[in-house]
Amino acid sequence: MRKVVVVGGGYVGLVTGACLAQKDNHVTIVDTNKTKIQSLKQGNVPFYEPGLDELVTHGIEQDQLVFSTSLHDSITDPDAKPDIIFSCVGTPSNPDGSVDLSFVLQVAQEIGKNISEYCLIVNKSTVPVGTTKKIELIINEALKKRNTHIDFDVASNPEFLKEGSALKDFFYPDRIVVGTESQDAENLLYDLYKPFLAQNDHFIVMNIASAELTKYASNAMLATRISFMNQLALLADKAGADIAEIKRGMSYDKRIGGAFLDAGVGYGGSCFPKDVKGLVHTGHEYNTPMSLIKEVDAINDQQRASFISLILDQYPTVTGKTFGIWGLAFKPETDDIRCAPSIDVITTLLEKGAHIVAYDPEAMNNIKALFGNKITYCNDAFSVIQASDSLVILTEWEEFLSTRPVDFLLLKDKNIFDGRNCFQGEALAKIGLHYFCIGRMIKTHDTCATESFWLHNSSQDALF
Ligand code: UDX
Ligand code: UDX
Repeated sequence: MRKVVVVGGGYVGLVTGACLAQKDNHVTIVDTNKTKIQSLKQGNVPFYEPGLDELVTHGIEQDQLVFSTSLHDSITDPDAKPDIIFSCVGTPSNPDGSVDLSFVLQVAQEIGKNISEYCLIVNKSTVPVGTTKKIELIINEALKKRNTHIDFDVASNPEFLKEGSALKDFFYPDRIVVGTESQDAENLLYDLYKPFLAQNDHFIVMNIASAELTKYASNAMLATRISFMNQLALLADKAGADIAEIKRGMSYDKRIGGAFLDAGVGYGGSCFPKDVKGLVHTGHEYNTPMSLIKEVDAINDQQRASFISLILDQYPTVTGKTFGIWGLAFKPETDDIRCAPSIDVITTLLEKGAHIVAYDPEAMNNIKALFGNKITYCNDAFSVIQASDSLVILTEWEEFLSTRPVDFLLLKDKNIFDGRNCFQGEALAKIGLHYFCIGRMIKTHDTCATESFWLHNSSQDALF
């Protein structure tokens, strides 16, 4: 049984640790946050990720998964000295877009101060190219200070977990990328990941710099596809085209495919915004401007701004108006609100004097921690409609999609601003709703005039 220490019990570290524990490894998850560790010891996962609660509880029951607040103790415990240490601490953005590596480098220091026999140190946090080598240097310096020589290896092993489907992504990865220059490290990681590999060629080994950049390249490519479609959606709106039809027409080309081509209110989350900015910053450092990626970032900002303008443009003033918000998480199946569009939309509307009533199936507590009593919270989606002048949809949760069009008639101003293109505009326009969405407004608005005539000559109730 391999002994594994995972530093950082966030979305990435906890999923990594719990999944490895499930495959016969003994895993210690270390986090400096005492409250988090306390709650994990009792089997309570402090965030929402489908299936993770059960997996953590199972790991604890099997004695395969333990928790600690001390990296020192976890490394030096004679019964649990790790073969492998994963670093999964956060790498937030600095105000200038560069990556704050302080946590990653502190962890390296601590490892260098405490290891007493060979181990492999694997960096899983998303870090700029060159960081894993820095980690190696820091550990070497710490060992030098201790006048000790201990063999160790470093490797880069970026994560490609999507929140909401992180367990599935870990158990059935489409690839595992490993950057290392050591055969021992490669062998250790291959053995560790073998139970998760559907095919051997899904284990991709390369040098450390390439692995570090593969993570940025993957996220930047996905973000580029989204920004591409978002910019095209603006044109579609003006030119009388429908972005959903354009996507359909494109995606049958196997070279293009259909993933990550949904126009919307812009991408959010803990990765895309941070990693796109991080790559631009790395480009500066290497005197190789990442002009395309810089534009991807700018388009994402503009997309949010133009969605907010779409709302404001419908009102001479929003002061005193009540806006209902459906969806606060940055995407469905998570409670994560990091860089969520909801934060920008709510902040702007509040600044302009509007009232906000909001609902999300999972992210209510996180939003409450941010906005407190500045906004009103509802227990369900329908109550939001009942209390609002206009509705703003920011996350495409499954439970929103089955709403009957007739229910929206309770909105006093009859306006729906849909940042995720959840509904068919024609059906809503037919019953007198004003449906504003992304890149497919022509259908709604074309049909408005004719349908309003039709509406006056038919019974609304007969429709549903
Ligand atoms: C991870 C990665 O580390 C990040 O680089 C990647 O881009 C996204 O995924 P994530 O797991 O989402 O981050 O971060 P977060 O949920 O913030 O968890 C980080 C954890 O590390 C926190 O629980 C924090 O308490 C812990 N931490 C941080 C430590 O234990 N020690 C530290 O020194 C700093
Ligand atoms: C992402 C990467 O997908 C994952 O591989 C990496 O390891 C971590 O970052 P995540 O942040 O969990 O995962 O979410 P993802 O599903 O990629 O969505 C990111 C954002 O893009 C969300 O705000 C989502 O709403 C948006 N998005 C996604 C679109 O706007 N359009 C799309 O077509 C797809």
